[in-house]
Parts: sequence; C-alpha cells; structure tokens
Amino acid sequence: MGERERWGTRVGLILAMAGNAVGLGNFLRFPVQAASNGGGAFMIPYFICFLLLGIPMMWVEWSIGRHGGVRNHSSTPGMMERIWDHPAAKYIGVMGLWGPLVVMTYYTYIESWSLGYTFFTGLGSYWGAAEFEPMVAFLRSYHGYSGLDLTAPGVGDVGITYFTSILPAYAFFIITLVVNIWILSKGVSGGIETIAKIAMPTLFVFAIVLVIRVLTLGTPDPALPDYSIATGMGFVWNPVPAALTSSSVWLAAAGQVFFTLSLGLGSIHCYASYLREKDDIALTGLTTAATNEFAEVVLGGTLAIPAAVAFFGLERTQELAGNGFDLAFAVMPTLFQQIPGGQLFGSLWFGLLFFAGITSSLAMGQPVMAFLQDEYGMTRQRAAIVLGGIVFALCQPVILFNQQGFLGEFDFWAGTFGLVLLATIEIILFAWVFGMDKGWQALTAGADMKVPIVFRYIIQFVTPAMLLVILGTWLFGTLPPVLANEPSALYPTGPVPEYIPFINAARLTMLALFVGLCGMVAYAWRNRSLEA
Ligand code: ALA
Repeated sequence: MGERERWGTRVGLILAMAGNAVGLGNFLRFPVQAASNGGGAFMIPYFICFLLLGIPMMWVEWSIGRHGGVRNHSSTPGMMERIWDHPAAKYIGVMGLWGPLVVMTYYTYIESWSLGYTFFTGLGSYWGAAEFEPMVAFLRSYHGYSGLDLTAPGVGDVGITYFTSILPAYAFFIITLVVNIWILSKGVSGGIETIAKIAMPTLFVFAIVLVIRVLTLGTPDPALPDYSIATGMGFVWNPVPAALTSSSVWLAAAGQVFFTLSLGLGSIHCYASYLREKDDIALTGLTTAATNEFAEVVLGGTLAIPAAVAFFGLERTQELAGNGFDLAFAVMPTLFQQIPGGQLFGSLWFGLLFFAGITSSLAMGQPVMAFLQDEYGMTRQRAAIVLGGIVFALCQPVILFNQQGFLGEFDFWAGTFGLVLLATIEIILFAWVFGMDKGWQALTAGADMKVPIVFRYIIQFVTPAMLLVILGTWLFGTLPPVLANEPSALYPTGPVPEYIPFINAARLTMLALFVGLCGMVAYAWRNRSLEA
C-alpha cells in the first residue's frame, strides 16, 4: 500500500470540507424548507437542531473519520469496525457507501441542470417567457417529460423554443459526470482540494453579488407595496413560536440540518480520514459548520425566497416554492427577465448552483473511491473509472424516469431517511459502544479549541435521544404510508397509479445496490483474512 493521501493545507481542508457541506441544499433545499414550513417559524427548530444535532454529529463524524483514517480506512465499513469490533459493524458501514452513491447519482444530474441553465441564461434561450407557466414548461421539456401541452395559451405563444428531446439534458449530465470523475481521479489534494480553492471563493463572490442585487430590488412594482424584499425578508426571519409544537416542522428542520451539513452520509468521515492523528478537528469542524450556516442562512435565505416574494407576493411564493426545482429553475428565471442585466445575474445564479453542487458531489464520490482504493487496492484512476461507471448506470433510470418518480425516491430514501438512520446508529456506536471516554479523547486530541464539556453530555445523551425520537417518528409515522403507496410525506395525494411500478423499481434498484455493496465488503474482508 502506498503513502496515504493527505490534505495539502489547513485552508485547503477547510475549503474542501465547506465545499462538501455547502451545496444545492443551501440554495435550493433550505429556501423551500423554510418557505413551506412557515418561514421564520422554521428558524427556531432549525437553530436548535443545528446546536443539538448538527454540531455534535459533525464532531462525531470528524472523530470517527480521523480515527479510521489513521488506521488506514477512509470509508465507513472499515471505520465502523474500528469503533465496534463486531462482524456486523462493516455492514453498518455499507450505509456510508450506499448513501453517498445514491445521492451522488441524482445530485450530479441536478448539478448538470445548473450547468445547462448557466448557458441557456447567458444566451437568453428562454428570454421573452417572463411568466411562471412557460418557464415551468421549458424546464419540463428539458427534463423530457411526456404529455406536455406546449401549444397551450401562455406557453405556445410566447415565442421561445422548447426542448423536443432529453438529449441536451443528457449531454450536460455526461459533461458534469466526466468533470467530477476527472477531478476525483486527481486525488484528494490534487483534485478535490485544488477545485475547492477555486470554487468556494468564486461561489461566495457570486452569492454576495446576487445578495446585493436582491436586497436592492426593493419594491419592484410600486402599485403592489406588499410585493417587496422587506416582506420576503420578514417572512424568512420573523419567528412564529407556534411552530415549536409542530412535529413536522421539527422533522423538516432536523432533515435540513443533516442534509446541509452532509451528515449521516459517509462523506464527512471520508474527508476527515485524510488528517493526521494530532491534527485539530474540533475547531476545524466547527469552522466548516459555521461557514455552511453562513452560506445557508445568510446567503441562501436572502436569495430565492425574498426575490420571489418581491415579484410574486407572499402567498404565491409559498405555493410556487412547494417544489424546489421550480423555485430555482422556473421562478428565478422569470425574475431575471424582469431586471436590468438579468442575463448576467441569472448566469451568476446558475453558476453559483453549479459550483455549490460540484464541491458536494465530489464529496459524495470520494467514499466509494476510498473504499475501492483501500479495500480493493485499486489505483485512483481505476477507482475513478469504476465509480463513474456505477454512477452512469444508476443515473439512466433517474434521467429517463424522473417524471415517474425515480429522482424523488432516491432523494427520499438515501438523501432524507438514510441520513437519519446512519446518524442514529453511528452516534450510539460512538457514544455507547466505543464509549464516551474514548470518544471524547478522539474528538479533543490535538484540538485547537477547548470543546465545552457540556458537549460531552450532549453527544452522550441529548443527540442520541433526539435521534431515536426522530427515527421512531420516521419508522412509525412517516414510512408506513409511503411503503403502502398511500398519501404520505413523499406523495401528499398518493402516488400516480401508473407510476407505482417505477416507484417499486426505484426501491428495488436501491435495495439491489445495498446488497451488492454488502457483497463487495464481504468479499474484500474475506480476501483480507485469507491474506493475513
Ligand atoms: N451538504 C450538501 C448540500 O447541502 C449535500 O447540498
């Protein structure tokens, strides 16, 4: 085995970790969650979850990651075994391969839409269709939806050309995937860190320019004084205490904290594994979490929702924001067409999404890269090709059957439920099986800050208890109607009957992938014991 990969510099590590966390979740998912859970009402549970789940889990995952990394494991099967000496531990770790792989699949596809839209906006391809309906039709035609009426009044007569096939979307996906795989093949320091050093500052510059533009929108139509940035900002920020008693708001807040910080996925562990035993994780972990929150709450919270309220009003924004993709890819393009310099600002918006996306999709690819390198002895290039092949194959049904629910299913099981499941299991293993004495030692060794002792108790008692309650609510409340194809959190009015076979196929695909990964782990471990 060659020399282990390492981060080049501390700044590079922080940027890469921040890149891991700051993603589409900050700019697409957060505004939608905030808007559909009562705006400011969402913020109190969100901040409490950040403090009691987000920060503790961040530290736990950095600790497990560094602990595993110094023992030559950069993916969770080996890491879990290092904190729980049991044959089952490595299969729990499979979740940390399965989750990022499934999420990377649909995430890279969404990232590729941003790349496509950066060009369409810069070229003005949809200019002239400054209403929501034609912009949604444009988006659906890009996604290759069938059954669209592109000749309907307000759609067919606005003078823009819609897509007639999925090929453009497919081409942008291939470009995005190839770029991801190419960067990963360059390694942790040479690829991921180098890109993070370019993408993260660029992303912040784009976001700050856009925030200034949004804040200076004021009241675009003086005849409609309520359609203003002030109303939008008030909606995002004024807390409504009544939401504290709504369990669905709490679940949404916890889910957002997990997704945005990339927790319960396996990718934070993986990045932390490229540290040395005495490198600080306490301060660096906290810094990346804080950077993510700045990007999410300050920047993400100021962009899409306030801008939409200024043009569409509060009520319509809440309706439109029910679908995050529509907010970003249909509502925002409508707005850009109504402001001077809209092509430039629009390209910055989609460029921002692309940069945010790529630094996160790399983070989802790296655990499988690491697994193939560490446990199968593959070279980086070979591991990158294998990863690219798997993501390419898995993405085919996501692209072709997006309309029928493949993307939504992947996001629900791997990107939402899976995070809670892995986080719950790993914190119990960390705090109770590995034990809090060793756990605290693993977190504080080499620390550049004094971790408040109260976090020891939060990690041991509060976070696991909260997670068990959340998991219980999932298992006994949220999941049964989803599995029974009844009206549920995933399908508020029940799934479309014709789509049910596709929904089942999506679930079977994910299950088959999980079983396949378990097989790969079993095979690697068997060979290792034969060699030993
Ligand atoms: N943490 C990543 C995001 O927010 C996955 O998009």
